[in-house]
Amino acid sequence: MPLSSKHLLGLEGVSKKEIELIFKTADIFKEVLERPIKRVPTLTGKTVVNLFYESSTRTRISFELAERRLSADIVSFSASTSSTSKGETLKDTARNIEAMKIDIVVIRHSAPGAPLFLSKILNSSIINAGDGAHEHPTQALLDMYSLREKFGKLEGLKVLIVGDISHSRVALSNIYGMTTMGIDVSVCGPATLIPRELDKLGVKIFYNLDEAIKHKNVIMALRIQLERQKVGLFPSTREYYNYFGITKERLKSAKKDVVIMHPGPINRGIELDSDIADSKYSIILEQVANGVAIRMAILYLLSGVESSLKV
Ligand code: CP
Repeated sequence: MPLSSKHLLGLEGVSKKEIELIFKTADIFKEVLERPIKRVPTLTGKTVVNLFYESSTRTRISFELAERRLSADIVSFSASTSSTSKGETLKDTARNIEAMKIDIVVIRHSAPGAPLFLSKILNSSIINAGDGAHEHPTQALLDMYSLREKFGKLEGLKVLIVGDISHSRVALSNIYGMTTMGIDVSVCGPATLIPRELDKLGVKIFYNLDEAIKHKNVIMALRIQLERQKVGLFPSTREYYNYFGITKERLKSAKKDVVIMHPGPINRGIELDSDIADSKYSIILEQVANGVAIRMAILYLLSGVESSLKV
């Protein structure tokens, strides 16, 4: 296997060399995606099942496109229209699907650890497409890939992640991946939404956004995840916007060429002003576009296809 594991469960423990291999492989697939016919035979004969137990627009469509463009056979599953709604467990669903001879499972689930659980009971490769507030490794890979494309390198960049750090799988995967790649990572948000132990991961913590954004190359705003908060951890979305919303006024104290990112879906007027989301600073749609090449790279590298990449 070109990667040290046959699964992608998270970026914790994934090495710089492995991340660079993923990026170099994505470069090849990005070129394929520029062609008039955006399909290669790389995964012909392989079967991928997309198990989505939670809502998704970007990740689900991006995985499906990546699989189709690699010529894999694909099956997509939604919890709401499956026998999950009749009480079937994740274990039973997964083992029944695997009995039909599959190779790779892509799973999104609200329970942290659901992909790890599947990796212990199935023989297929498991790809985590977001597990609760734990990790979302392909999102962090496409984020870093987009920054590599924008700046030419990752080492030494100063990135600020703003918002609900406690409930964000995007933040945790980016913190693991970015610190591995030599990026200087800071976070900022309400004290109730930042884990106290975060500095142990090599991250700087700010509670004042105007202070935090100075000298940063990149500001990544996160979605306020009201569905994962059991108690109100900030008084109102209006107050959140006043203290932590990214606005034109606030960007006056940022670097002139600062880059704005957001994993989506955006709550416009809460995390980001609408005109900032659509401005020249924003690379939000580049992030989405790069997701397909990154997911093609992961699917290829985990597929066990032995021959060298011919596209
Ligand atoms: N970024 C992301 O995971 O978006 P979706 O929830 O739409 O997949």
